[in-house]
Formats: sequence, structure tokens, C-alpha cells
Amino acid sequence: MTTSKPLYVYLQRPDTGEWVTVGRYARRGEEEPGMFLYAPSYIDARLPWSIDPVNLPLIGGIEHPANRYRGLHDVLRDTCPDAWGRQLLQREFQLPDNAHDSDYLRLARNGDRWGALATGTSRKPSIDALKSPKLQQLDGLVEELLAMSERRPPVDARLRKLLMSTPSMGGARPKGTLRDGKDYWLVKPILQSDIADIPRLEHFTLKWGAASGLNFARSVHHQVGNAPSVIRVLRFDRQDDTRRMVISAASLLSAEYPGGPRAGWSYPLLAQILQRIGAPQRDQIELFNRMVFNAIVGNDDDHPRNHAAIYETEEKRWRLSPAFDVVPNPEMDPKALTMQVSAGRFDITRETILADALLFGFKDRRDAALHLDALLSTIRDAFPTVEADLPVDVRRLLRDRLANSLRELTAA
Ligand SMILES: Nc1ncnc2c1ncn2[C@@H]1O[C@H](COP(=O)(O)OP(=O)(O)OP(=O)(O)O)[C@@H](O)[C@H]1O
Ligand SMILES: [Mg+2]
Repeated sequence: MTTSKPLYVYLQRPDTGEWVTVGRYARRGEEEPGMFLYAPSYIDARLPWSIDPVNLPLIGGIEHPANRYRGLHDVLRDTCPDAWGRQLLQREFQLPDNAHDSDYLRLARNGDRWGALATGTSRKPSIDALKSPKLQQLDGLVEELLAMSERRPPVDARLRKLLMSTPSMGGARPKGTLRDGKDYWLVKPILQSDIADIPRLEHFTLKWGAASGLNFARSVHHQVGNAPSVIRVLRFDRQDDTRRMVISAASLLSAEYPGGPRAGWSYPLLAQILQRIGAPQRDQIELFNRMVFNAIVGNDDDHPRNHAAIYETEEKRWRLSPAFDVVPNPEMDPKALTMQVSAGRFDITRETILADALLFGFKDRRDAALHLDALLSTIRDAFPTVEADLPVDVRRLLRDRLANSLRELTAA
């Protein structure tokens, strides 16, 4: 007997784009973990995609218990909102502060949902068709997001309704998605509470990462006259009408974020898991490079929901996703990252960065040290190619931070 009505989980097939019912989530009681069962039809069809290659192996006929998030499976939690979307849902549905994650899953709707999963109460897939705002509506979208975050009445009632019905994307900052041709862009404006121009800083940093040869999400920054500064970041989980399967690093690490123990938040562990789920070795090196980049630029908000993997249909395997939400701390030079750089160590030193190098696939420590030295030079040389758009004070802050980091991380 189930106390909550089961929630059916749908997947847009990466190969054909068809929606299928992949399974069912249910909770038997307040204190009971939720259970996920792969649909017999999905198992019988011998479809090859596990929705979570670490925690939900593709085994039919058994109910898989949820071990975290008070009984919601990690990969379903990935498709729920965080602080921003929750705040909207709480306001709209008068949800209590201790509402269960599955309530947010149920209420957040499928329109903008992250990745290729969707949910509903019918056995057969039923996904709302959503008309995302267009690029020409960027200014209106930003104005409405700011009105929402400042609890002002709607500026444009239709846009407000649309944004209220698409609260499912994660993260703390106000955000919306717009469409431009085949591309979807995540839009994040500056906030009154920001102590720096965060959208400009994020855009600069994504460009710096790309200029350093790393795989960073593409972004565009807008700021004309007195209009608010805003970044739009290309959504890698959308391409035209196809949604792409994704999974957060929190899920891959079987770690709860936010709230869980930090012991499981780890770059070298994540590198090993990438290998285990079939990603090529270059993704492990890319992860090492991102860890070093975060250390150098002082992005200490590198938590396990700020890394992800994506299923590459053509390659038939999981890959590390492009890097996103990489923003240097604008207030102080961090001495540690949020994820471990080596077992039990969060602090940023040459020693800690190289300590678990073998787990990223380096041959030996010497090999890793040579790689690190070349990477430090590449990141240093890329800075002058992208710094022009930064305000003078931020440019100085980051230039000094870069110099300090290079001193710290270069061999004595
Ligand atoms: N380029 C992208 N393509 C697809 N999904 C993305 C992209 N960027 C972010 N996401 C997803 O949206 C979520 C929120 O985005 P992001 O991390 O940029 O927001 P934020 O509010 O700044 O987050 P935080 O609370 O970590 O500061 C991410 O956790 C990730 O799941
Ligand atoms: Mg984030």
C-alpha cells in the first residue's frame, strides 16, 4: 500500500526523442524511504539507459530504496529546484519549510526541468508543451525575475505566470530559460544584494576557462546603459526539442548536497566514478584541470551540484558535462575548496593537489607535476586575453589572486 500517490518517471529517449515511462516513485509512509521501480515495459523493451548509473542499476522487479534526501532518489532530487525555485513554490502552494523533496518534485512541473527526466501521475508520459520566452524578451524576463526576487507585483502578468510555472531549475539565484532558435539559455541577472557584478564576473570566468583550453559552458553577457547586468549560459541539457540525460556530481558521488556530510564531496573520487561509468580518461584529466582552475581563480562555491555528467548519445556513454557556475569569490582569497582535492584535504596547496594524482589517471606523480606546471602557465597566459571587460578593481583583485596562486602552486 502506498500513502503517497505514485509518481511516474518519464524519460525522453536519447536515440529517438520519444518519451517513455521509465519507472515509478512512491513512499509508503512519512518515515519510510521512497522506492523506485523500473517499469516492466521499460525493462522488457531492453532499453539500455539506467537513469542513474551509480545508484539505480537497471534491474527490474525490485524496488530500489532512496538512501538520501529523506527518501528521494538522488537523480530525482537533481530535477528538483533548490533555494530559488523552492521559494517560488512555497509562496504559491503555502508549503511548510519542512516540505518533503518529493513535494517539490511533484509541484515543479516539467517545462524547464533539468535533463531528460520528467514526472507525472499518469502511467503514460504526459509532458507540458512549453513556449519558452525568446531572446528578444530578455529585458522583460530580467525585469520580471528581479520583481519576483524583490517580491514586487508582476510587471508582465503573462511572463510572471510562465516563470511561476517553471521553477524547477536548481541553484540559489533567480533564473529563467529562454530560447533562441535551437538553443536554450539559462538567464541569471545581477541582484540588489550582490556585492559585485556577479553576472559579468561569471561570464569573464567562463571565457577564461575556455581560453585556458577547458570545456566551459558558452555564455553571453548583456549590460546596456543603466539596464541590469545579466549573463545567459547555453544549456547543455537542451538541443532543439531534445532533452539530454544529465546527472549531478552529488548523485554520482552518492552524496547529499546541500546538507550531507562533506566526506563524500571529492574531486579524486569523482574522477574514479567517471572512469567507472565509462567516461574516457581525458574527462578525468579535465576534472583535474577544473579543480586546479577553481583553486587558482578562487571559486570556492565548487559544490557537488556545480559539477555534472551528460549522456552522449552518439558515443553511447556518459561524459563530464561542460563546466558551469564558476565564479571567483569576490570578497576574499579562498584557502580551500568545497570539494576535497585529495583524500580528506580541502586546502589549496601544490602538495594536496598532487597527492591523489594517480586517481585522475596520471601515470605517476612526476607526470602529474609536469601537467600541473604546464596548466598553470596556460591559465596565466589566458588571463590577459580575456581581462579587458572587467572593471578595474576586479581586474586588479583577480590579477593579484592569480599571482598569489601561481606562487603557492608552483614548485619551490
Ligand atoms: N549551462 C548549463 N546547462 C545545463 N544546466 C545548467 C547549466 N548551468 C547550470 N545548470 C543547472 O542549473 C543549476 C543552477 O545553475 P547555477 O549553478 O548556474 O545557478 P546558481 O543559482 O548560480 O547556483 P548556486 O546556488 O550553486 O550558486 C545547476 O546546478 C545545474 O543543474
Ligand atoms: Mg550552482
